[in-house]
Formats: sequence, C-alpha cells, structure tokens
Amino acid sequence: MRYEQVMESVAYIRSLTRKQPSVGIILGSGLGGLVDVLQDKTVISYADIPHFPQSTVPGHAGNLVIGSIGTTIVAAMQGRFHYYEGFTMDEVTYGVYVMRLLGAGSLIVTNACGGVNRSFTPGDLMLISDYISFMAPNPLIGHNDERFGPRFPDMTEAYSRRLIAKAEDTAAALGFRLQKGVYALFSGPCFETAAEIRAYAALGADVVGMSTVPETIVAHYLGMEVLGISCITNMATGIAEKKHSHEAVLQIANEASDKLCALVQRMLETWS
Ligand code: HPA
Repeated sequence: MRYEQVMESVAYIRSLTRKQPSVGIILGSGLGGLVDVLQDKTVISYADIPHFPQSTVPGHAGNLVIGSIGTTIVAAMQGRFHYYEGFTMDEVTYGVYVMRLLGAGSLIVTNACGGVNRSFTPGDLMLISDYISFMAPNPLIGHNDERFGPRFPDMTEAYSRRLIAKAEDTAAALGFRLQKGVYALFSGPCFETAAEIRAYAALGADVVGMSTVPETIVAHYLGMEVLGISCITNMATGIAEKKHSHEAVLQIANEASDKLCALVQRMLETWS
C-alpha cells in the first residue's frame, strides 16, 4: 500500500470535516442501519475520495460516514469491498488504511456468515475470537512500508480480548446472549460444499464467511484494536438441508440488525 496515496484520501476527507474519528466501523450485508443512529453526520461518497475503490454492486451504498454516538466520533464504511468481486487485496482493505490515518485506534468489523457450529441458530450474533484463513491471499503481501506496521505482524490477539469482554458485558446489560467462536474465510462467491464444511468443522471453524479477515489483518498490523461481530444468517452447507440464497441471507441479517445496532451503539456511547 502506498502511504502518500492514503494520505491524499485522508487530506480530502479532512477538507470536508474537522471531526477526527476514534473508531472505524465496516458494515456488512444487511447491517448498514447503524449509520441511522449517527448524529451530526458527514456523508462522503467513495466516488469522491481520491484513490478510494468504487463499489460494483448497483444500488449498494458506497459511503464513508463520519458522525458521533454520544461523545465518540466514528467513521463508518457503508458498503465494503469483497475479494470475490475481483478487487485486489489492497482495494479490499483500502478503507482500513484511510480510517487508521484519519485517527481511528479501533475497528469494528461486521458481517453475515454461515453457521458451522451446530449449537448456533440463524439470527444469532457471534463475537469473533479468532480466524482461519487458507483460502485467499494475505493482504500484506508485497513491499512493506514501516510507517504502517512491521513486516511480520504477530497475530496472537487479532481480535481484542478487551473489546470481546466489553461486548459481552454490554450484551448482558441489554439482556441478550452472544455466541463466540472462530471465523473461517472462504473466497466465495459460491457457497461452500458440504465436504468443505465438514473439513472446516474438524479444523475448528464455528462459522464461514467471505469477508472480514483481510480487514482484520490490516487493522491489527496498523496497530488497531479489532472487534469482529458476525451475524449468523444461515446454517452452512450440509448442516441444513435447504439450499442457500443471498435473499435469505439479507433478510435474516436485516432482522438481526436491530440487535447488532443496539449492541454497537451502547458500546460506542461508553467507548473510552
Ligand atoms: N457461507 C459463506 N458466506 C456466507 C454464508 C455462508 O453460508 N452465509 C452468509 N455469508
């Protein structure tokens, strides 16, 4: 990733707002509603930000929204970039670099995923404790600019234990339970086979999905604390007899969106 390029994106955003975000958020499929609870918003189209990748899905929001929840200023990416769309890993993770250089010290990543752990139920939210990533290239491959982070980043705590504990306490206060487990990345765009799901269950995966891991790797490398929240929209292939449909995924994600928004909103109200 080119430092000067990211700084040009940051300079443009700073020319539109003086608000400096302390938290970045990436909103996954059907989970974009969180933007509605932001106050005093600046909405910036990806198309206007120099060097920012452009969304390919028609009708898909492509905005960086900077606003506040309580005293916490957040930058939210409404619309993310997936590897299966043909974006390079630099494009998939570009927004994370921008949010970090805007000042964000933490990142909340959300996604829709398929449940592999049989004790999960569609509609559940899961805190990501760790990831498995064998199916897509590492986003840090290539020249390393030490101004961003080290050549060989440690991944002992890719997801912040402090933020996991805070999310668990917040959910308990709101009166609901969160699952916790391991997210395994598949590149997509096809859903997994039943044999792949059996293999990944044996490897320790609790859910499977097509996003989140590249952004997590880059955020952790940049020194951010990361919280990952998955919405289980369906049971993975072979666990439920039903065939998958993207429409069903979006519908369950929309239904679970209120719970996710309540959790994130409450956490952000008391962030520091
Ligand atoms: N597999 C991969 N990605 C997903 C799934 C799934 O079953 N559901 C939602 N995103």
